Amino acid sequence: MFESISKRLRESRKIVFVTGAGISQESGIPTFRGKDGLWRSNDVMKLATIDAFNDNPKLVWEWYNERRKNVFSAEPNLGHKAITELEKYSKVVVLTQNIDGLHQKAGSSQVLELHGSIVKIKCTVCNYKGETFTEFLDIPPLCACGNILRPEVVWFGEGLPQDLWQEAIVHANSCDVMVIAGTSLVVSPANTLPIYAKQNNAILVEINPDETIMTSNMDLSIRSTSAIALPELVSIFKQ
Ligand code: OAD
Repeated sequence: MFESISKRLRESRKIVFVTGAGISQESGIPTFRGKDGLWRSNDVMKLATIDAFNDNPKLVWEWYNERRKNVFSAEPNLGHKAITELEKYSKVVVLTQNIDGLHQKAGSSQVLELHGSIVKIKCTVCNYKGETFTEFLDIPPLCACGNILRPEVVWFGEGLPQDLWQEAIVHANSCDVMVIAGTSLVVSPANTLPIYAKQNNAILVEINPDETIMTSNMDLSIRSTSAIALPELVSIFKQ
């Protein structure tokens, strides 16, 4: 079976990656669930919500300040770099739930950030949008209009930008191979992307040290970390 999947991988014209927090774990960025899911004893699932921000913007900004510091000093790992290298062999599109920018830092040319970006901010009231690459000293930071700024990310309780989501569906629906790396696939709507890929008869490959809720739908599950498995995947293309 592995031989036939290897052949289809080599013949693929478009590979879509669906990535999550696990792909950046080996760059020193904590995942959301499991043992990493607490920050100063706060459940990060509850912090990453619009309700938490409305109740206590200072606390949520403190968390984001710390995440910003961590992300700005992080470097792409061998997993991110392998995805970039695959562009030599096939069209590659990355649909990521991560906000850390490490795919772009590794050189990937087509990345859709489904949950936003940690460098982007916007005003909670006026139309101001911007980018910042440092920690904020005064939090919550204020817009020139006097109202509170927020990270331009998608929180629980909020929808993805519709045009971005439609673009993601088009990519998922037109790939030959979908590689799902470092995501628990529990968050909607990103976890529906493999269904769109299957509609195009794509093969599904999962890279995760643990099983996910969609493991039984995979054509191949590689139980390893992404920094180990993704370079091995690229080596299939070199054969
Ligand atoms: P999770 O924390 O839910 O899942 C991380 C997955 O990565 C798990 O399945 C781990 O087994 C796996 N993993 C851990 N280390 C790994 C490694 N080195 N290599 C490969 N896999 C590894 O993170 P996400 O699935 O990204 O959304 O979570 C999805 C969304 O939920 C996030 O974007 C965020 C979160 O709440 C929002 O904030 C809206």
